[in-house]
Amino acid sequence: MSSFLDIHTTSKNDLRAIIDTARRMKDARNGAPKGTPDAEQPLKNRMVALIFEKPSTRTRVSFDLGVRQMGGQTMVLSGAEMQLGHGETIADTARVLSRYVDMIMIRTFEEATLQEMAEYADVPVINGLTNRTHPCQIMADVMTFEEHRGPIAGRKVVWSGDGNNVCASLIHAAGQFGFDFTFTGPKPLDPEREWMDFARAQGVQAVIERDPSKAVQGADLVVTDTWVSMHDPQSARERRHNQLRGYQVNTDLMRHAKPDALFMHCLPAHRDDEVTSEVMDGPQSVVWDEAENRLHAQKAVMRWCLNA
Ligand code: CP
Ligand code: NVA
Repeated sequence: MSSFLDIHTTSKNDLRAIIDTARRMKDARNGAPKGTPDAEQPLKNRMVALIFEKPSTRTRVSFDLGVRQMGGQTMVLSGAEMQLGHGETIADTARVLSRYVDMIMIRTFEEATLQEMAEYADVPVINGLTNRTHPCQIMADVMTFEEHRGPIAGRKVVWSGDGNNVCASLIHAAGQFGFDFTFTGPKPLDPEREWMDFARAQGVQAVIERDPSKAVQGADLVVTDTWVSMHDPQSARERRHNQLRGYQVNTDLMRHAKPDALFMHCLPAHRDDEVTSEVMDGPQSVVWDEAENRLHAQKAVMRWCLNA
């Protein structure tokens, strides 16, 4: 039994095994209607709590569907309606939930909340996004890249925009899956140095290039995300837009990447801010496969957590 808290804290072998399981399970479904139970029912009789302290479409629906396909049941809980961190410590909530459910997925603000939940729960805890990281998203992204282009090891991945939580998990993946990473964006929105150092320590390149057209040269994959995340103050919106306008992913920028470079975005996208509709709806975009693969990647993550 293991928690899935982050990509840099999960072993390379386990991460690879999770991707392999995800691909095998996706193939085995062979496009069956979404409500069809999987032939294997590894979560039979398991109850999973899905806790959301922030809004969600993909994470909520894909975890819920994934548990059901694998024969388990879910309860979706909104942080605002719980005692979480208000009337009760996170540790006490973790102890109580462990008596009711077999696994906990939590989307929260502070990383410390996730860590405390994992420390005091007797059941696996999965990180469904914090202010700092979003590992389930990046497992789906790695799976998606490999479906389209083969092994991601040795490839060049470029992030253009805000060095946020999704970017952080992508940098972790660079180190763990062995691909080179380039960040392009304004200095105040650089990713954390600790993450870049982590990737470098695994033997891959992790560099910052301020000029976006130079950054994407030779890129196999270009990735971006919203300029203002859920935890960012709305008052930062105008400044962020001014800082990031030059880092929009558009056809002009994509022309500087490899001709067969893919485009990804975790979604929700703000069309014509961080990415133009032309790119998002264009032939290099794999955003819908990426969204679908949340389902398959997370099913594999849950099996890994429960050793099921
Ligand atoms: N990409 C992602 O996590 O989407 P949601 O916020 O809709 O869950
Ligand atoms: N960086 C975004 C990701 C949403 C899935 C946020 O945290 O709001």
